[in-house]
Amino acid sequence: MKQVVDVYEVGPRDGFQNLRDYVPVNEKLRIIDGIIQAGVRHMQVTSFVSPKAIPQMRDAREVAEACLARYDDVDFLALVPNLRGAQLAWESGIRKVSYVVSLSESHNRANINRTHAESLAELRKIREDNPDLHICLDLATTFGCPFEGKLPVEAAVAFAAPYAELVQEIDLCDTIGVANPRQVRETIRAMQEAYPQMPLQVHIHDTRNMGMVNTLAAIECGVTAVQSTLGGLGGCPFAPGASGNLATEDLVYMLNDIGYDTGIDFGKLLEVSRYQKEAIPDGIFSGHQMRISRSTSCG
Ligand code: COA
Ligand code: ZN
Repeated sequence: MKQVVDVYEVGPRDGFQNLRDYVPVNEKLRIIDGIIQAGVRHMQVTSFVSPKAIPQMRDAREVAEACLARYDDVDFLALVPNLRGAQLAWESGIRKVSYVVSLSESHNRANINRTHAESLAELRKIREDNPDLHICLDLATTFGCPFEGKLPVEAAVAFAAPYAELVQEIDLCDTIGVANPRQVRETIRAMQEAYPQMPLQVHIHDTRNMGMVNTLAAIECGVTAVQSTLGGLGGCPFAPGASGNLATEDLVYMLNDIGYDTGIDFGKLLEVSRYQKEAIPDGIFSGHQMRISRSTSCG
């Protein structure tokens, strides 16, 4: 039997958040629909964050509600940075959130204006407020920070300890795309050893064309949930130098071809990626170009 790999599409959040011009809700929903028609069953559809920090996500409630109303067989998540975000997500019907905290304190401050202690205290409040919420810790800058450089593997393991009591999953994020496969393997093995019951995910940016090898390294260590964005959109507005994520179509092509079961139709995914590229002209991107051009055939 083929091994299942769950591909989490995070473009509607990580991709769109980084666009300079606002993408209207109906356009977001068309792209989301195309991705789901291609077979994607896990998606981070939006984030409940300050509209001043990320104006592109000001329609979070509308997007979340529309998605939940349309599809009952898709696992929808939203990113939240604080209690208010978690409450807004819950009110919109979202039952799974990604709670973002950065391993490096300086990026945590730049991104969400919180110290580590404040972020942990806030998560405790969220857990208390809502015991039924499924929380995934999005551990940003796990593999490197724009301000502090690389942090040792032991730092990630130690940092995760109090969080492991509060969350259902941990997502190790290469926010600025500086990881290498050896580092990915060492980090994952150390986390698996310290937290054997904790499901892990990876979220890898493709700044140096290492997204594919790093994601594959994680899968070969036993990680079965991996994140990517259609067209390789993405980036953190609060991490200088961050560029796009690993492109979902490239990832799916590789995984299907190796023989993993993603449940995703590469040809259909390519179609929606092409549509996205036309619907959102390159000119409006703040940091980079979409990468769809690499996947040109359905073969
Ligand atoms: N959703 C919507 N609005 C929110 C919010 C949320 N989750 N959290 C706070 N706000 C609003 C507050 O109501 C307040 O509004 P006002 O100025 O109209 O009164 C404003 O945002 C500031 O609130 P405050 O609690 O003082 O937050 P802050 O200024 O310290 O900013 C965050 C902290 C976390 C809200 C903000 O930095 C943020 O949203 N960051 C998101 C970063 C992000 O998404 N990065 C990319 C993904 S990793
Ligand atoms: Zn990201």
